[in-house]
Amino acid sequence: MTDRRKLAAGNWKMNGLGAELSEIEALIASHGAASSELLICPPATLIERMARVAEGSALQIGGQDCHAAASGAHTGDTSAAMLRDAGASHVILGHSERRAGHRESDAAVRAKTEAALAEGLVAVVCVGETLEEREAGRTLEVIASQLDGSVPDAATAETVVIAYEPVWAIGTGKVATTTEITEVHDDIRARLVARFGDEVGNGMRVLYGGSVKPGNAAEIFAVENVDGALVGGASLKAADFGGIIAAL
Ligand code: G3P
Repeated sequence: MTDRRKLAAGNWKMNGLGAELSEIEALIASHGAASSELLICPPATLIERMARVAEGSALQIGGQDCHAAASGAHTGDTSAAMLRDAGASHVILGHSERRAGHRESDAAVRAKTEAALAEGLVAVVCVGETLEEREAGRTLEVIASQLDGSVPDAATAETVVIAYEPVWAIGTGKVATTTEITEVHDDIRARLVARFGDEVGNGMRVLYGGSVKPGNAAEIFAVENVDGALVGGASLKAADFGGIIAAL
């Protein structure tokens, strides 16, 4: 089995003011030398300041979205180059909150991912089914089509991370069972290998996201094709995120 480095990624969503940088200072003090990969994606307004705080530590900083264009007349948007310039090394793309709230299609997510890769950012591409889709027995079909549509052909194990986030498990306290996670992650792995070949397909990390907490992280990380987590609420406090990192 390919040795994939575990990744604990935090998505702060639209949370965090300058005062919350103290959580990052605390996180670095407790886990800044962790052997796993650590990433926090704060709102765009905090990227530069957080990157300064994290300098010299194991903590990497990412954006939560970028525009597909390099620059131009796109009021309110942020380009991949701007994220990079502010100190980001990663960017989350295609999060279900953007797919739903900003009507982002698979094609739009793919274009953004291509823009991120062109700028040297690592793209964390999110996929996940709604409750309605799961109950209709369409989970694997939905994930397959999101993967096919959102992940560009140029993806490599170093430049793209997949995050499986069942929409019904996000911020709800409802965690997918390890059986459900195993089924989807195994299927994603098989699809990545079929599309990109053994080396890239087995090397690409697949994170689980959706109500991951210190108390359930170890059980989730024990699933074979789970290579870490994309964490929302529990990434906001150093103590909670530290508990998740400790379970990696
Ligand atoms: O991107 C992370 C996410 O959507 C999961 O959020 O709060 O359920 O951990 P949460």
